[in-house]
Amino acid sequence: MKAFVYQGPGLKAMEDRPKPEIQAPSDAIVKMVKTTICGTDLHILKGDVATCAPGRILGHEGVGIIDSVGSAVTAFRPGDRVLISCISSCSKCEYCRRGMFSHCTTGGWILGNTIDGTQAEYVRTPHADTSLYPIPEGADEEALVMLSDILPTGFECGVLNGKVAPGSTVAIVGAGPIGLATLLTAQLYSPSELIVIDLDDSRLAVARKFGATQTINSGDGKAAEKVMALTGKRGVDTAIEAVGVPATFLLCQDLVAAGGVIANIGVHGQKVDLHLERLWSQNVAITTRLVDTVTTPMLLKTVQSKKIDPTRLITHRFKLDQILEAYDTFGRAAETQALKVIISV
Ligand SMILES: NC(=O)c1ccc[n+]([C@@H]2O[C@H](COP(=O)([O-])OP(=O)(O)OC[C@H]3O[C@@H](n4cnc5c(N)ncnc54)[C@H](O)[C@@H]3O)[C@@H](O)[C@H]2O)c1
Ligand SMILES: [Zn+2]
Ligand SMILES: [Zn+2]
Repeated sequence: MKAFVYQGPGLKAMEDRPKPEIQAPSDAIVKMVKTTICGTDLHILKGDVATCAPGRILGHEGVGIIDSVGSAVTAFRPGDRVLISCISSCSKCEYCRRGMFSHCTTGGWILGNTIDGTQAEYVRTPHADTSLYPIPEGADEEALVMLSDILPTGFECGVLNGKVAPGSTVAIVGAGPIGLATLLTAQLYSPSELIVIDLDDSRLAVARKFGATQTINSGDGKAAEKVMALTGKRGVDTAIEAVGVPATFLLCQDLVAAGGVIANIGVHGQKVDLHLERLWSQNVAITTRLVDTVTTPMLLKTVQSKKIDPTRLITHRFKLDQILEAYDTFGRAAETQALKVIISV
């Protein structure tokens, strides 16, 4: 089968690989229908993700059709259409029992990381019963691809951890797919202000279309001042970091109001300063989270009922044999204005 393979820092290629086989009774083999590329895949290609070894088929998002199942799989049969979660969960270990699927002792984020992923014709999915979701009849499968990772990530790590509430004020730093998914799902809670901050004016224009009440280009270094002016000098109740660099986590510390929350989503590769000398008396909370995808069934319903339309994030479409072009387009997002690319298999 055709598969997109990480061959080491800066090296990638389409390879011909054997079709995966059932290895454990709880496995399923899924024939991929649609997949996509995540910012995290770009981190892997740069060599930033130590757990992902050269030779790995990338991809942790997508929808497909069950090809075969192991003897212990009871929820799915060959021919069933499924949504693949970026997080695999056994549902039995101590962490899964607490709803922390991201830390499942035999799962978590393994697809396209420590085991082969979804950017291929077929993928082996461990713990199939509890890591795949049935696709409702008539669902828009491209919309569901956005449910593998980005929608639950924005919602769980940003909106829920950030305690977004009716009438509250929110700033989202970073208007990439994750920041925009946070923006879409934050509106389920009707905050009064949703301020989106980025360096890229075209992404800020998208944020306004998606419901941002204000947008700020932070390139002039005055974003904190502007947020203070917009919030009666208080700052925001929720400051969401959706970039993953020191500057944006520092900005969140400058934006948060007394009693507020800084909710970090970004994957950080470097240490970041924490200004406790200013924050200790401000009753703020700082949260971090690897997405658990516990809210996927709920988000699926909001997508089905059209409360959220994640297809608005899709900017480009490719075939699997054009995946190198897809990576190039996604990797040059500032020029190509790419957000999410759909890859049809
Ligand atoms: N916690 C999790 O479970 C989880 C899951 C998925 C992704 N992530 C992480 O979320 C982050 C965002 O993902 P994405 O795919 O949207 O990334 P992205 O790179 O597409 O978007 C980041 C945005 O930040 C903007 N930006 C960069 N530097 C900035 C600065 N100094 N000030 C303001 N804006 C700046 C960029 O212009 C871009 O629009 C990444 O770090 C990603 O790895 C975390
Ligand atoms: Zn991802
Ligand atoms: Zn588990």
